[in-house]
Amino acid sequence: MSTHIAAQSGQIAPYVLMPGDPYRARWIAETFLEDPQQYNDVRGMLGYTGTYRGVRISAQGSGMGQPSIGIYAHELFAEYDVEAIIRVGTCGAIAESVKVRDVILGIAASTDSAMNRPRFGDVAYAPAADFELLRFAWEAAQAKTLPAVVGGLFSSDQFYNPNTTIASTLAGYGVLGVEMESAALYTLAAQFGRRALAVCTVSDHIITGEETTAAERQETFDDMIVMALDAIVR
Ligand code: ADE
Repeated sequence: MSTHIAAQSGQIAPYVLMPGDPYRARWIAETFLEDPQQYNDVRGMLGYTGTYRGVRISAQGSGMGQPSIGIYAHELFAEYDVEAIIRVGTCGAIAESVKVRDVILGIAASTDSAMNRPRFGDVAYAPAADFELLRFAWEAAQAKTLPAVVGGLFSSDQFYNPNTTIASTLAGYGVLGVEMESAALYTLAAQFGRRALAVCTVSDHIITGEETTAAERQETFDDMIVMALDAIVR
């Protein structure tokens, strides 16, 4: 057991899909994994392990924001020897070239969070995805003709951001979407010498105001999960 995860050693697979919403962890397990076994419900942060095409894979909720994913990712890497985490989430598009329902594969994650300040002081460390996971996810998306785009994410501590110009400034530097977790995940993967990737379906567009319906969000989420699973088992 770790502080926030009630699994015994060996109950969590080396590869973990990590949605923010714990109910989505249950959805992934019950919809896509064979013989899913729940190993955690501490604080309602559900976690399951099953198999996909014969490979053991876990689905673990992270909660919202970098402090929350930081706790779960740290414990998965430090206490359960997890090899790779793929965050499977949603984001808001900030680049005009990106459309709702696209899937952004986050090559890097800029952040307005102070989370890395104790580690790096004044140095602006650049949290980045694992190249091989990114390549495998890209290839899985191509095989299924999913609308995937590779680019930067903005991991913000603000869902309701009073600074309305920051999104367009970052878009001018190639950042495609805003979400709230990936910079912490990438940093922790680097700390532990493990691998991480964030893939996010675009649920809303900050510039155009376009939004997805609940049914569209479910469909694009499911397509993205299959892409992430295929990237793991290829
Ligand atoms: N996740 C989905 N949409 C988002 C937004 N607009 N800001 C931050 N995180 C998000």
